[in-house]
Amino acid sequence: MYPIKRNRRLRANQYIRNLVKENNISANDLIYPLFIIDGKGIKEEIPSMRDYYTISLDILKKEVKLLWKIGIQAVLLFPKINESLKDNKGSEAINKDGLVQRAIMTIKESVPSMIVITDIALDPYSSYGHDGIVKNGEILNDETVEILQKMALSHAISGADIVAPSDMMDGRIKKIRLTLESKNYHNTSIMSYSAKFASNYYGPFRDALGSKPNFGDKKSYQIDFHNSKQAIDQALRDIDEGADIIMIKPGIAYLDIVKELSLKVNTPIASYQVSGEYSMIKESALKGIIEYEQTIYEQLIAFKRAGCKLIVTYFAKEFLQKIKI
Ligand code: PBG
Repeated sequence: MYPIKRNRRLRANQYIRNLVKENNISANDLIYPLFIIDGKGIKEEIPSMRDYYTISLDILKKEVKLLWKIGIQAVLLFPKINESLKDNKGSEAINKDGLVQRAIMTIKESVPSMIVITDIALDPYSSYGHDGIVKNGEILNDETVEILQKMALSHAISGADIVAPSDMMDGRIKKIRLTLESKNYHNTSIMSYSAKFASNYYGPFRDALGSKPNFGDKKSYQIDFHNSKQAIDQALRDIDEGADIIMIKPGIAYLDIVKELSLKVNTPIASYQVSGEYSMIKESALKGIIEYEQTIYEQLIAFKRAGCKLIVTYFAKEFLQKIKI
């Protein structure tokens, strides 16, 4: 009680603040997303994600060397697939010579120790822009999971260290785990997008991949943002089914879920600061509304404070290159 307890004592100067600082962030916490495309010498800015690029594999080769040098140890791949290769079943997703499969090999050749994480969902490959097979306007669950199992295996064969199902079909974690085990990919981990909400923050990402759904929305599979119990339930189920890491997505607006889970489970939790969050910070900083670097730092710390071990963030590279903490 005041004046016995004066909270300002421990805020008096930088050094005492350092001593009582509860959370820190380092390269060990960060996963960097990469958008890839077929072709040569391509480095295309994503219109709704200023300073973020879609790159071809020759550029990727150099990019991962640079990322490794600045301390990034994990990348997450997203392919921009040529429209002519898209169909309802996402057949291109399981092509052993597909873009992602070649990208994994390219990264492993260039930086063998880089942890390669791949997104498992059909949307970049779907002629409908949906995460699963469409029939009569519905997204089929079990038929989609069968393809996702093959997709995850194909990525593991190509050398992926972690597969990350982001489709939100039911039962996919168990099926993927069993498939990987049965083919002796015991050490391929699964990072499940357990609690992926049907969010308005994914717009720029869908622009980047040309994967906007061409009918309806994703609310029949992604979680309704009014709910937290469903998210917790889903994460617990994914852990039961064999997820090694669970992810909550989007980021800042969903830290309540992270906090609750971090008090309940011992599985590492990741969060994804998504494309809309990136562009909101980028654009408002450019207008001089907020201070760019310190706002990024503050948000990244917020993830850690809530209980995230890992953060997928488009700021990872800039953060490590530019931001003094
Ligand atoms: C695809 C997927 C999406 C994102 C990651 N994986 C988009 C979606 O579900 O429509 C979004 C990431 C971002 O916005 O940065 N299943």
